[in-house]
Amino acid sequence: MLKSKHLIGLEHFPTSDLNKIIDTSFKFKEILESPERKAILLKGKTIVNMFFENSTRTKISFTLAEKRLGADSINFSSSTSSVKKGETLKDTIQNIDAMKIDGAVIRHGHPGSALKLTEYIDGAVINAGDGSHEHPTQAILDMVTLKEKFGKIKNLKVGIIGDILNSRVARSDIFALKKLGAEIVVCGPSTLLPSNAKQLGVNITHNIDEVLNWCDVVIGLRIQLERMHLGRIPSKREYHSEFGLTYERISKLKKDIVIMHPGPMNRGVEIDSKIADSDNAVILDQVLNGVASRMSILYLLLADKSEKL
Ligand code: CP
Repeated sequence: MLKSKHLIGLEHFPTSDLNKIIDTSFKFKEILESPERKAILLKGKTIVNMFFENSTRTKISFTLAEKRLGADSINFSSSTSSVKKGETLKDTIQNIDAMKIDGAVIRHGHPGSALKLTEYIDGAVINAGDGSHEHPTQAILDMVTLKEKFGKIKNLKVGIIGDILNSRVARSDIFALKKLGAEIVVCGPSTLLPSNAKQLGVNITHNIDEVLNWCDVVIGLRIQLERMHLGRIPSKREYHSEFGLTYERISKLKKDIVIMHPGPMNRGVEIDSKIADSDNAVILDQVLNGVASRMSILYLLLADKSEKL
């Protein structure tokens, strides 16, 4: 149903596949909003969710999407597995594959781990975040949320604020937005912007007010507090003051802009609570669209041709 067998990243993913996933997500959203909330299209398929890193949204969302599609869903968490006894990633995966699985969802701290997985298992592999490389399913749910809100993505003005350097969400969002024809400006301290930002085809600024006055939608990114010791941010307070999505800044704008954030949020650092909880924020819509998008991805990658939506 897609040209691609796996979903590893969006950089080289066909635009036709991306559009098909987005369009199909809206059909699953309708199903999620119906009293039934289920579409048994993956009956008999076994999917394992392998999380080697912490997750709330992505893990629950995939598990729920699999259950709503009638698949057999298995959750693997490295912290309670034999990885703790020294078993390698290769052995772990080959053992899981020996149990005859149809698909694997993987989150891992190492960039390239999802691609590596395709060498060891026969089924479809879906990247749920690999280090600072990509988080394609987050970007797809972001595109669904934008299309739902604006009706189209072409020529949309999107500002992305924060830690672009370490953010897999920023990379996947940029690849998706560029394929779909949006204009993008990234903004953050120079220590958190990649040196190849120009090669990514985006404009750069260090002035948040300039971006906010220009954009239709702003995506705030989590400041990775675990990296603060590297000295890339002087302090949480200074970051908030220079790059925070503050009530003071947003309330001064001459037009309404849509506020997005992939979560988890650091309230009071990259975003004020008053903004995160405001009517212009679509942060919880992103979460619901995450289930619909992941149902779409799983269906299009794993369903038998006879299973029609
Ligand atoms: N947005 C996101 O990936 O959140 P989790 O880390 O909770 O899955």
